[in-house]
Amino acid sequence: MKPLLHFFLLAVSVAAVAGRPSLTSEEAEESRWHPNSLEKLDRSERSLGKLGVADLSNETTTAYWYNDGQTALKSKAKNRLNTNKAKNVIMFLGDGMSIPTLMAARTYLGQLHGYSGEEHSLHWETFPFTGFSKTYNLNRQVADSASIATAYLCGVKTNNGQLGVNGIVTRGDCEASTDTDNHVSSIAEWALNEGKSAGIVTTTRVTHASPAGAYAHTSERNWETDADVTDDGYNPTVCKDIATQLVTEYPGKDFQVVLGGGRRTFLPNSTVDDEGSYGYREDGVDLIETWKQNKADRNSSYSYVWNRSGLRNVIDNPDDVDYVLGLFESSHCQYHLESTPETEPTLAEMTEAAIKILRKNDNGYFLFVEGGRIDHAHHSSYAHLALDETVEMAAAVRLADQLTEESDTLIVVTSDHAHVMSISGYPSRGNDILGVADISGVDNLPYTTLSYANGPGYKTPSNSTRYDISDDDLTLVRYEYAATVPLSSETHGGDDVAIFARGPWSHLFSGTLEQSSIAHFMAYAACIGTGLTACT
Ligand SMILES: *[C@@H]1O[C@H](CO)[C@@H](O)[C@H](O)[C@H]1NC(C)=O
Ligand SMILES: *[C@@H]1O[C@H](CO)[C@@H](O)[C@H](O)[C@H]1NC(C)=O
Ligand SMILES: *[C@@H]1O[C@H](CO)[C@@H](O)[C@H](O)[C@H]1NC(C)=O
Ligand SMILES: *[C@@H]1O[C@H](CO)[C@@H](O)[C@H](O)[C@H]1NC(C)=O
Ligand SMILES: *[C@@H]1O[C@H](CO)[C@@H](O)[C@H](O)[C@H]1NC(C)=O
Ligand SMILES: [Zn+2]
Repeated sequence: MKPLLHFFLLAVSVAAVAGRPSLTSEEAEESRWHPNSLEKLDRSERSLGKLGVADLSNETTTAYWYNDGQTALKSKAKNRLNTNKAKNVIMFLGDGMSIPTLMAARTYLGQLHGYSGEEHSLHWETFPFTGFSKTYNLNRQVADSASIATAYLCGVKTNNGQLGVNGIVTRGDCEASTDTDNHVSSIAEWALNEGKSAGIVTTTRVTHASPAGAYAHTSERNWETDADVTDDGYNPTVCKDIATQLVTEYPGKDFQVVLGGGRRTFLPNSTVDDEGSYGYREDGVDLIETWKQNKADRNSSYSYVWNRSGLRNVIDNPDDVDYVLGLFESSHCQYHLESTPETEPTLAEMTEAAIKILRKNDNGYFLFVEGGRIDHAHHSSYAHLALDETVEMAAAVRLADQLTEESDTLIVVTSDHAHVMSISGYPSRGNDILGVADISGVDNLPYTTLSYANGPGYKTPSNSTRYDISDDDLTLVRYEYAATVPLSSETHGGDDVAIFARGPWSHLFSGTLEQSSIAHFMAYAACIGTGLTACT
């Protein structure tokens, strides 16, 4: 497995030399800024199973693969270990971005651009170091995103459903979670403690499991508003909800960048937001106003934005803003393929705004960026949307790579847990990754390349015969890919996930690691945190 994986990473960088063009900067620019550019491709023109768009004729020669392998070798052999201090650390998390998701998304991206696809790459696959992360938590073989966020951001594995508390606390135990001896702090806090800046960017609600790992301490990830705490029979002034912690407590209140969805967790249930949705809070507190007041009290410049043009303003005038809060939806941001370009920024745009604000600090910064809806799409068996959200994160990583220097900025790209999507059959090269793999020789019915071990995509057999997908419209972005076991929501997978790194100490992120080591390794590179560092 390992040599193969390494080969793949290397093959990518030589694609241009070998005659397979990589994206031009214009194409990259377009895919980054114009969310609808992907629509130029008319998928309906593709007959299922017969995509075959690329000229692969050179691959038949020995010279082609010798050239490919030798070019890769030259590039890899030049690698030198980077032991600089990391002034900045950017962690990208693809929520639910399993290893099969990587293969399927890179193929999808290549095919969107007219290539066979399998040989394409997601931006992070050009990074010099790759490792694996073991994703189990204290009480589950297959974990949820909150317990895992505590692992990779705070460096401590904990019980399912908990954030910023150790395993002495059990899920939903309000009292135990208020004992600060049981709290664990995140690398965002360690960065602030050393005079760096910190920020979070996500396509989910900013109070959702993954970003909340950077600032919250709670025994229940679902306590996003005071109403959620009350509903479970606890006192929200004792066990504070996650939104309140973000706005009023350290370290969240000191984050210079908070961008994502989730206005409803900030607003009272009597308040209507700019897009017409009511808030969820029952304590009457408008946390957007509280946030603004807190920044005003510091005599800082700040900006609250709720749409794309507001964010573009921040990108164009970063010197005018020290603190930015951007909440672009009442709940999660829309899926990129379904979003309204006028009102919703892309993940790449949010990342650009974040870096432009955070880099004003001469001491550097820690930034957490989540492509959070890969996970949601998989849970719904919407493989197409899961791949597209992954491609969107690749655009954000590419931009972060361009906006920062490898000499002083560590970029780590990983996932929190897998999903149960598999890539199967023996489809031909260039076969539509979202299409039909083959006809089963057992029941003479077609099956898709992508399918799930469980989930809502289960199709009830009729007359003891497997459901026939022949008349299904596989071009629908919400097509539910087939599942073996019927479940209302497809589940996470327990597989290891990949870690990709570039920049100072990126070579630490190789081998098979406990997921909780990621926080320690990033802190080591940046000379912050609670233990050994590269500077001691
Ligand atoms: C195949 O190789 C020839 C000779 O190197 C090159 O000119 C041509 O562009 C290649 N074709 C493709 C599709 O890569
Ligand atoms: C709104 O919150 C108040 C408490 O502030 C509560 O009495 C009321 O039932 C809530 N309304 C809805 C629609 O949930
Ligand atoms: C903010 O400015 C006001 C008026 O100039 C001053 O009184 C106050 O001390 C300042 N507060 C901080 C936190 O700097
Ligand atoms: C974006 O937000 C600004 C500030 O509230 C507002 O003036 C503008 O009309 C909004 N743009 C759109 C397209 O809704
Ligand atoms: C059900 O399958 C059997 C055996 O293949 C076949 O004889 C029968 O006609 C089918 N019934 C229907 C309603 O399709
Ligand atoms: Zn999930």
